[in-house]
Amino acid sequence: LPSEAPSILHSDSPLWRRHLLHFLTGDSPLRVGLAEPVALPCLFLLQPSASLGPNEPPDPPRIKWSKVQAASGQKEDVPVLVAKDNVVKVVKAYEGRVSLPGYPSNRYNATLVISAVRASDAGLYRCEVVAGVDDEQDLLPLEVTGVVFHYRAASNRYALTFPEAQHTCRENSAVIASPRHLQAAFEDGYDNCDAGWLADQTVRYPITLSRPGCYGDRSSLPGIRSYGEREASEAYDVYCYARELRGKVFYVSMPGRLTSQGARKHCQSRGASLATTGQLYLAWRDGLDQCDPGWLADGSVRYPIRTPRKKCGGDEPGVRTVYQFPNRTGFPDPASKFDAYCYKGRWV
Ligand SMILES: *[C@@H]1O[C@H](CO)[C@@H](O)[C@H](O)[C@H]1NC(C)=O
Ligand SMILES: *[C@@H]1O[C@H](CO)[C@@H](O)[C@H](O)[C@H]1NC(C)=O
Repeated sequence: LPSEAPSILHSDSPLWRRHLLHFLTGDSPLRVGLAEPVALPCLFLLQPSASLGPNEPPDPPRIKWSKVQAASGQKEDVPVLVAKDNVVKVVKAYEGRVSLPGYPSNRYNATLVISAVRASDAGLYRCEVVAGVDDEQDLLPLEVTGVVFHYRAASNRYALTFPEAQHTCRENSAVIASPRHLQAAFEDGYDNCDAGWLADQTVRYPITLSRPGCYGDRSSLPGIRSYGEREASEAYDVYCYARELRGKVFYVSMPGRLTSQGARKHCQSRGASLATTGQLYLAWRDGLDQCDPGWLADGSVRYPIRTPRKKCGGDEPGVRTVYQFPNRTGFPDPASKFDAYCYKGRWV
């Protein structure tokens, strides 16, 4: 009611403050692509208590950021940083990658900036301010999209020139990954001992567990190995980056299974097409778990595993690839029989 608006506006009630806070921060989750910077807005309207005498300096507010994590069914807050007056203490796991850029000029501006998000940064964040006996807090959900994946040509290991590598990523609903994409994936534990092109025409690979054959230029240390910038005509594998799934990937199985051509037709009969490798990786990142190898649009055969189990290829979650040869090269013969992964765009 308009006539009541002014009194609400001047009210000091916490409820009103909360509404205003949500007006400022917004309710929908923040979505950001892997390795991009993100600002989690948090601005408090608490002001120093009016009861302070004119000569008493107000106690500066204490700011605390934490991440709400589910651990064995319990929700618990894992600290990110605390700030009071001009001292900002960052927890080790976040050192060098979070900051409060608005805080030096406004002690009530708790906006947190993460400089390059990792997939594992997704989740719910709690921002709290305590000033004297007053406190306020807010919760902000953060979503991180995008996935880096290693791609090997159908023909052999190290068979893609730089232009072919760029083209191959595009064919698979992705772009060639940049060094910062590979870095963000590495920080979350990505490990792959195959040299691949990146967007800056360098060739690198991420090693978390150093082992013979994967020492590269870093010997026994974990880290991203680099061959430096290479001639575009040299041939390697490639690391691609797929940012967002616009439709839905679904698994199909038929009695007797399908050839590559049969799989293509079957997806078409369902108003869909064979999923690309990038689409399958994105669906995996969103939770698809299926222990059945299936055809994809490029003629490869893969399957997505979220919860690792013995019969489903290894101890780590990931998208498994079925190769023709034991040296992990070659796509399967198109006449061989598998299931399929189809993709349907949202507006089809
Ligand atoms: C709070 O800090 C953020 C990050 O620097 C800035 O973008 C924003 O404008 C600041 N807001 C206010 C009201 O100071
Ligand atoms: C892998 O094995 C296939 C078939 O034996 C062979 O043609 C190919 O050259 C091998 N690739 C590498 C990198 O050893």
